[in-house]
Amino acid sequence: MKSVLKTIKINNLELRNRLIFAPAATYMCDINGNITDKTLEYYHDRTVDRSFGLVVIEHSYVDIKGRNRRVQLSVSKDSDIPSLKKLSTVIHNNDTPVLVQINHCGAAMFVEEATKNDIAYSASAIHNDRFKKDSISMSKKDIKEVIDSFAKAAYRVQESGFDGVEIHCCHGYLLNQFLSPKTNKRTDEYGGSLENRARLLLEVTKAVKEKVRKDFIVSVRIVGTDIVDGGIDAEEVAKIVPDLCKLGVNMLSVSGGIGGYIIPGKENVEGYFAPYAKVIKDASSVPIVLTGGFKTLEKASDFIDNNIADLIGVARSVIADSHWAKKEIIKLK
Ligand SMILES: Cc1cc2nc3c(=O)[nH]c(=O)nc-3n(C[C@H](O)[C@H](O)[C@H](O)COP(=O)(O)O)c2cc1C
Repeated sequence: MKSVLKTIKINNLELRNRLIFAPAATYMCDINGNITDKTLEYYHDRTVDRSFGLVVIEHSYVDIKGRNRRVQLSVSKDSDIPSLKKLSTVIHNNDTPVLVQINHCGAAMFVEEATKNDIAYSASAIHNDRFKKDSISMSKKDIKEVIDSFAKAAYRVQESGFDGVEIHCCHGYLLNQFLSPKTNKRTDEYGGSLENRARLLLEVTKAVKEKVRKDFIVSVRIVGTDIVDGGIDAEEVAKIVPDLCKLGVNMLSVSGGIGGYIIPGKENVEGYFAPYAKVIKDASSVPIVLTGGFKTLEKASDFIDNNIADLIGVARSVIADSHWAKKEIIKLK
């Protein structure tokens, strides 16, 4: 049997295979950030075949101040729980475990949709090239609020019946902005050395772990490379991986790009983040997810066999064809 089809245990949960529907924003919710029938139908269609070992729901804001767009899924208030429950129920009825990715966008605010009053908070006052927005530097009070928001959001996700959360520290969003020397110019204990730049991510992870049940999965989507000069790279990230593992993280999903999730020119190369995933895997005691470029499942097992990753994430192929995974699994058998 090909490795991608073998079971794997994440925390206490045994997954049927190593294939993940990677987080991919649909922005199908309503203006309050709540699930719509369209959202339910979309995720039902992609899980009805029972072909994924795990699904990670698109990035959802932990605080309205960390919303990337006007229409984005919310995990920021207790009143979101009934709507979120509908989504966990639909996916569980398809016998598929599911996490929700929790995020604060920081400076990466989609400016066409932001109002004058939307303040983009970040590690430092910077201009965000991707979203063309100027940010202001967070105070210690703002930082405490962010940590608290992530922990409360994780608890809401748990109370909504999901199997875990994924903390978003990639693609140039707030936790990535703190981790990266390119965007973090602070001179206090949250800036400067790697230890200081990683402090917020580690404090968020600790707070999330303390707030949820032991059997609730906590994954971190971790940046393997910023893909810009002066950004963070896998060698530096690898140094904080043991700290994340010690805090009890159950899985690390490697992606990258401070301005997106694609390596320019390599968008169709299967496993384009593999060199970075390998460096992170060598430092990790928990399973690693490799995502990026997979169009067939033929090659996916090689990355597992070569000890580069333990699981494979796929987004664009699944967005384009809701039955992609089933068709690919049949080809492998
Ligand atoms: C439309 C779209 C929305 C995405 N939204 C998210 C997201 O919410 N969170 C995230 O971590 N990555 C997001 N991604 C990145 C994917 O998870 C994935 O890493 C990337 O698309 C590369 O994998 P692929 O080649 O299989 O598509 C998104 C990608 C696409 C195409």
